[in-house]
Amino acid sequence: MTRASGAIGVRIAGTGSAVPERRLTNDDLAKMVDTNDEWIVQRTGIRERRVCDPSREGTFTLNRDALKNALDASGMKGSDLDLIIVGTCTQEMSCPSVACRVAGEVGAVGAGAFDVVAACSGFVYSMNVADSLIRSGRFKRIGVCGGDAMSSVIDYQERSVSILFGDAAGAAVLVADENPDRGCVYQQLGSDGRDWSGLYLPRRAQEVPEADRDNPIRLGCLRMNGREVFKFAVNRFRQVIEEALEATKLTPDDLSQVICHQSNIRIIESAMEKIGLPKDKVFVNIDRFGNSSAGSVGLCLDQVWRAGKVPAGKPMMMVAFGGGMTWASGVWNV
Ligand code: UT7
Repeated sequence: MTRASGAIGVRIAGTGSAVPERRLTNDDLAKMVDTNDEWIVQRTGIRERRVCDPSREGTFTLNRDALKNALDASGMKGSDLDLIIVGTCTQEMSCPSVACRVAGEVGAVGAGAFDVVAACSGFVYSMNVADSLIRSGRFKRIGVCGGDAMSSVIDYQERSVSILFGDAAGAAVLVADENPDRGCVYQQLGSDGRDWSGLYLPRRAQEVPEADRDNPIRLGCLRMNGREVFKFAVNRFRQVIEEALEATKLTPDDLSQVICHQSNIRIIESAMEKIGLPKDKVFVNIDRFGNSSAGSVGLCLDQVWRAGKVPAGKPMMMVAFGGGMTWASGVWNV
């Protein structure tokens, strides 16, 4: 939907990100399961991904560090925030939320805090919700994070899922702005829960659908029907971008960047080709970071923001899809 009329705009005051130091290369994976570098690069575009040291890193620390970096870049303190939203699906605990722990550590005592669970769409969902809350006039400064420690829910004995995912978080600090044309001028949040079993994380045997009872992946680990998700992703990705362009009457030429979820290079390239998006408008870092679920769009945003690739005066688009199934897009005037 396009922006509701109102006098308040939204400015991205700063961005940040955090990734673990430890690199897991395709050759490292080939020592753990029956796979190889050539297959992974050809089918996914991934060369390496980052993974947490579980003794000291995880979803909470990644999101905390990403938000700290975004606050530094904004010249703001945690105590300046009135709300923190974290998009994630790998929370260490269902209570408290990651957002509450992040708020506690960045000094945002008294601020509202909640998690958004939309799998890989989590960061774009959270940015869209935050923009709307600021436009409502009820919040002025929101810290938005998206981050997942996917390594905590991957069965590394299984090659179909383990090769894709990595750990990362990205964040942005959003503040109210007097220019109502600034911020998210178009957004879409979508889901189709009918096909949830294409990508899911069961905790108990009762949750596993009959057709997936023989799946060798352990409970508590992510399960994915790769081919099904691939088909969904290629179509939905293209459709969501086309709908955003149509609603805003923009062409690919008008955009500075399309920042898209780093799912698989073949999915990204297929959408680029069908829509006619030139290579220099679509940021790609999947080769170095893999698919970091809710971390991926936030990490890309921070990297393009710091590289000066999303200047004021040209809108940029963020787009993601993921488990649920979910999808989301946002067109932003920065
Ligand atoms: O961000 C969340 C959303 N997730 C996604 O976007 C993921 C979407 N899906 C995909 O990216 C792809 O489906 C995968 C990368 C997961 C798999 O690629 P694919 O081209 O769909 O492969 P496939 O599952 O159709 O398997 C092709 C062959 C099979 O062998 P046969 O039956 O042709 O002999 C697999 O057993 O490749 C085999 N294979 C592997 N070989 C080496 C599957 N995984 C591997 C592997 N290494 N890791």
